[in-house]
Amino acid sequence: MTDTANADLAALIRTIPDFPKPGIQFRDITTLLLNAEGLAATIDRLATMHDGPFDLVAGIEARGFIFGAAVAQRLGTGLLLIRKNGKLPGRTVGVDYALEYGEDRIEMHADAVVPGCRVLLVDDLIATGGTALAAIRLLRKAGAMVGGAGFVIDLPDLGGVSKIEAEGVPVGALVAFD
Ligand code: PRP
Ligand code: ADE
Repeated sequence: MTDTANADLAALIRTIPDFPKPGIQFRDITTLLLNAEGLAATIDRLATMHDGPFDLVAGIEARGFIFGAAVAQRLGTGLLLIRKNGKLPGRTVGVDYALEYGEDRIEMHADAVVPGCRVLLVDDLIATGGTALAAIRLLRKAGAMVGGAGFVIDLPDLGGVSKIEAEGVPVGALVAFD
């Protein structure tokens, strides 16, 4: 769900053509982060787009940590870190997933959730949905229940939102870019 009331936020996101490679329109959230009102509105809207209560917010490395931490603080929950392979020091549980070329792996600490705890997943952007889908599988593998997924940006042409909805997880995004 993308709300036209979020046009104010869309205007604060800068587009850099041909980054990191030719043909990619990179949606740059650093300009949104620099704007105090835009940042506050983003956090407020991410925190209220799904029905709570949530026991934890999970943020996906790296840009998802920024929004995830602020949403957790706003909701009065802790923050669970979903990291790229090999970054977490404790015992981990992981999920491998396909990239456009090759494979990647995300991990979380195995003892980060109590079984049945209700988690809100947060990231800056959903494109193909591969990362978010892997995060949902990871959280479920660890025993959590994913009660919602919230993104600042959706790239609808890449079809990620419908993959997450097909998993039975409610999805929201504040801004969509073709
Ligand atoms: C970006 C973005 C999402 C993911 C979305 O992360 O922050 O996590 O790609 O793509 P997908 O829906 O096709 O999986 P990136 O891997 O660039 O990591 P970063 O946040 O560390 O820059
Ligand atoms: N991650 C995947 N696709 C992206 C894009 N177009 N802009 C910013 N981050 C991205």
